[in-house]
Formats: sequence, structure tokens, C-alpha cells
Amino acid sequence: MREMPRKRKGVFICIEGIDGSGKTTQAHLLVETLKIKAYDAIYTTEPSNGILGQMIRRNMLQGSLRVPTIVEAVFFAADRVDHIEKEIELSIKAEKIVVCDRYVYSSIAYQGASNINLGWIEQINRYAIKPDLAIYIDVPPEIVFKRMKRRKSVMETPHIQKKVRRNYLKLVKEKHLEMVDGNHSINQVAKTIENIVLRFLEKH
Ligand code: ADP
Ligand code: TYD
Repeated sequence: MREMPRKRKGVFICIEGIDGSGKTTQAHLLVETLKIKAYDAIYTTEPSNGILGQMIRRNMLQGSLRVPTIVEAVFFAADRVDHIEKEIELSIKAEKIVVCDRYVYSSIAYQGASNINLGWIEQINRYAIKPDLAIYIDVPPEIVFKRMKRRKSVMETPHIQKKVRRNYLKLVKEKHLEMVDGNHSINQVAKTIENIVLRFLEKH
């Protein structure tokens, strides 16, 4: 991954986790909390809302387009480069706090769960900037299945989610991600994330 210049006011935070672990809920709550505290925070997501991200959502996740898993990995990485250039970097330069719902760790965890070589996944993502904070919300798949009313994407079979969680836990162990226990109430999880982020912002 690419390091960002050290002296800058903008901050880049990403929130990771398996499908239904509460990322979207928590990312929005974090943005709201930061705004209340007078920080200029924005929410964004991957796959992005750009042309490639829309294509991924429409065709690969919700549609019937089946492509080899290697091609999927390339599409996610391509969307990421587009997202970074068109939105994330501009927002960081404008001194905002960017809260991103999924990022490069999703590619490592999900595409890695399809037995694609991890070194190669890292290679095709090497232009991705390194986030300041990468938070992983840990929830066992069994709990998530109770929460989810419907399956949203092809990635969401129980078998895949277990493998994906294992990959995330490996990233936690290697200190790439900071883990938050997501098996609590929405407010409790939000408070834990808020504490981590505010502690970081005080130092930053
Ligand atoms: P993700 O973005 O990780 O897929 P969401 O934020 O969309 O997850 O949450 C999935 C579902 O679980 C939603 O219906 C949401 O309201 C619910 N949910 C989120 N966090 C919790 C929680 N801590 N406890 C119970 N339900 C939750
Ligand atoms: P989305 O509806 O955003 O997921 P969520 O249920 O977490 O809100 O769909 C994103 C799906 O795409 C999700 O199943 C994970 C997958 N994905 C990858 O496999 N690799 C990636 O790099 C990214 C960003 C997402």
C-alpha cells in the first residue's frame, strides 16, 4: 500500500467486517458523531458510487454476470483506484475525515477466501493509500445470519463468511486492523468506535 504524506489535516478511516456485521450503520453513526463534534466528516463506500463500482454492484453482486474470481479481484481493485483518485484523496486534501465503508482489506478477506494468491491481491492493490485507522467489526457469522432478513450478494453464503472472518482475524493478528467486538448493541459498538477514533484524532 502507498503511504500518505505525514503532515496533513485530512484523515482516512475505514470500517471493515463480514456482510451484516454493522459497518454501514456504524460508519454513518461515526460521521454523525464527528459532525456534532465539529469535524468535517464524510461517508463513502466500496464498491464505490463511481462508474466501476456501480457496474460491480449492478452486474456482479446483484446481477447474473458470473466472471472468474480473478476478474472480480481486478474489478474491485480498479474501482478502488478510481474511488481513491476521484473522491478519497480530494476529500483528504480538503482536510476532511473520510469514513469508508469497506476498503482494500475487503479484497484481501473476500478474494483471499476464493483461494486467490494473497501476494497477487496485494500487488494489484499497491496503489491504494494506507488508511490512518482501519477498524474491523467482529461478529460471528451465526449472529449475522439472525440479523439479516435477506441475502444481498453472492458473497454471502455461510461457508464463505466463515472463511472471510478467518482472513479478517488474521489481519487483526498482523496489526493491520483494529478489532471491535460487534456483538453488542448498536450504541455500545458506536461508543467503542467513537473512543478509538477520538483517541486517534487527539494524537493526530
Ligand atoms: P453491513 O453494512 O456490515 O452489511 P448493516 O449496518 O447494514 O451491516 O447492518 C445489517 C443489519 O443488522 C441491519 O438491519 C442493522 O440494523 C442490523 N444491525 C447493525 N448493527 C447491529 C447490532 N449491533 N445489533 C443488532 N443489529 C444490528
Ligand atoms: P455490500 O452490499 O456493500 O455489502 P454489505 O452487506 O457489507 O453492506 O456488497 C459488497 C459485497 O462485495 C460484499 O459481499 C463484499 C464484496 N466485496 C469484495 O468481495 N471485495 C471487495 O474488495 C469489496 C470492496 C467488496
